[in-house]
Amino acid sequence: MTEPHAIETMLLEERRYPPSEEFASQANARPGIYDEPFEAFWEREGRERLTWFEPFSELYEWKPPYAKWFLGGKLNVCFNCVDRHVEAGNGEKVAFHWEGEAAGELRSISYADLQRDVVRFANALKKLGVRKGTPVAIYMGMVPELPVAMLACTRLGAPHTVIFGGFSADSLSDRANDMECEVLITQDEAWRRGTAVPLKKVADEAMSAAPGIRASVVLRRTGNDVAMHEGRDHWWHELEEGEPDDAASCPCEPMDSEDLLFLMYTSGTTAKPKGIVHTTGGYLCGVATTHNYIFDLKPESDVYWCAADIGWITGHSYIVYGPLCNGATSVLYEGTPDFPDKDRWWEIVERYGVTILYTAPTAIRSHMKWGPEYAQKHDLSSLRLLGSVGEPINPEAWIWYREHIGGDRTPIVDTWWQTETGMVMITPLPGVTTLKPGSATKPFPGVSAGVFDERGNEVGPGGGGYLVLKRPWPAMLRGIFKDPKRYEETYWSKYENVYFAGDGARIDRDEDFWLLGRVDDVMNVSGHRISTIEVESALVDHQDVAEAAVTSRKDATTGEAIVAYVTLKSSAEPSVEKLQELRDHVAKKIGPIAKPANIVFTPELPKTRSGKIMRRLLRDVAENRPLGDTTTLADPTVVNEIQQRAEDEQGADEA
Ligand code: WTA
Repeated sequence: MTEPHAIETMLLEERRYPPSEEFASQANARPGIYDEPFEAFWEREGRERLTWFEPFSELYEWKPPYAKWFLGGKLNVCFNCVDRHVEAGNGEKVAFHWEGEAAGELRSISYADLQRDVVRFANALKKLGVRKGTPVAIYMGMVPELPVAMLACTRLGAPHTVIFGGFSADSLSDRANDMECEVLITQDEAWRRGTAVPLKKVADEAMSAAPGIRASVVLRRTGNDVAMHEGRDHWWHELEEGEPDDAASCPCEPMDSEDLLFLMYTSGTTAKPKGIVHTTGGYLCGVATTHNYIFDLKPESDVYWCAADIGWITGHSYIVYGPLCNGATSVLYEGTPDFPDKDRWWEIVERYGVTILYTAPTAIRSHMKWGPEYAQKHDLSSLRLLGSVGEPINPEAWIWYREHIGGDRTPIVDTWWQTETGMVMITPLPGVTTLKPGSATKPFPGVSAGVFDERGNEVGPGGGGYLVLKRPWPAMLRGIFKDPKRYEETYWSKYENVYFAGDGARIDRDEDFWLLGRVDDVMNVSGHRISTIEVESALVDHQDVAEAAVTSRKDATTGEAIVAYVTLKSSAEPSVEKLQELRDHVAKKIGPIAKPANIVFTPELPKTRSGKIMRRLLRDVAENRPLGDTTTLADPTVVNEIQQRAEDEQGADEA
């Protein structure tokens, strides 16, 4: 929360963008939406937005810190996201315009196509013994078969965990073991910036450390040769050969509202990622409702594009489940924004006439760095709404986004939420909210948020403190998988019966929220959560490392960049090669996103007398701030030199 820059920004930021009359007159959200009592709001959304096999009898139950929603209700997520649209006569409507990274690789998948694909694949999974309750791991790139795999699991009632394709074999096996996954779905390789990423190879390594996985399914994507383990590995296309694809051949399993839908692992303040538990009815209602109002979705005319990766919560909630539940037409893009050139995104917006674009500040800042000329080459006039998520958006980036992408006309929704919240919690509603660059503005209707001081008192306008959520919401996490103690300690021990988000925030005179970043040992790199301890553990795992301390510094593009201070064992010498070796080691243990941007070799780490590493001091070094007592630090000229080298390398290997 010690982010003086953010606080200054908030105090100086006077620009206001009231909704235009034109937008307001057609908006899904009406000003009165905030006046509705929260029970009435969620009761109505639950009944009307979802199709239930059996209606719920009770809206929610709150036995702090455990909530249940839509009690007694029975439903199926795949039915809500696919089948009911086909049954309603919208089978020909496009669900996904998919675009491969290579030029010309385009596929438009209608809701009827999606249903056939999901049913056929679900039937194939049944042959591997996947049924209600079978935990399934998914490790894929951004191909249409990824949502197909997720939906097939939900159709059968099999909970899934999707592991981002940039994660390492260790990260994959840790998660699969924690969830006790029995089946893994992957692909031969994925395309990324023109190179083939060897997913199956990594999956093989992971499976050798995850003995519970008895079968894998491998999608052929690049077509390059990969090793197949006889009896365990199955080609996707062979497994589903001859399987029926009509809905009746694989009916949607009726699930209890509170049945496990998926786990999403996320970094906390220890080395072990937390398996965040999301259940069926509340999650689906939460993501579909927020998607409808925040993105003002008109399913009949909008082309919606969330440019996140499905491997993160943003992709789960706002590429797959929310939009499909609402019958949206979405864009799904496999690759990076700069392949083959830096105008790739804008070419896509023009090609499909994208009307709503949702992305992260780090991506916006990359485009800013590349310059507006790439956007100017394309007709972006179809855009009518822009969104931002993942980290605080600085006003400069906000204004650039609006001017150069939004034609100085589109509202921008800056949406604050977390893996744990499942759905957006603090956000403007387009057509209703007066926007302020850099502020996520107000709690979503039916959500109660506040800012507390250390002792649990609500701070008034202008004051800074900790962001809290004061009552349960439908898509909230139901716990940390197999670890109730950690759940209670992490989120519910600081204040009584109030959710502690781990973010700093301020409220201004208009009661708008300004998010100020994490207050714990969690870093936010390009919108990805990485814990300092996780990276430290990965470093000390290397044979030459005696000790490591990890912190972050501000970075103009990625928001934060990881800085590691490393003390080598006396048998090893600091060198540029060693530095590269350590970075690669972290990539191998966690994934390329966790690679330190800078590594500073130091004979000793600054510690207190009790042996605690002084991270605050290290952060000052990383930020080039004046230091207090630096006697314990290495020769600062070495620090500068290594920092310089590390900066030169940066950007080449962002995940
Ligand atoms: C940060 C991503 C400021 C925040 C959906 C949160 C934000 C963490 C915003 C969750 C925003 C996300 N403004 N900060 N609009 N959105 N954050 O779990 O620190 O990957 O706690 O979920 O990202 O990251 P997660």
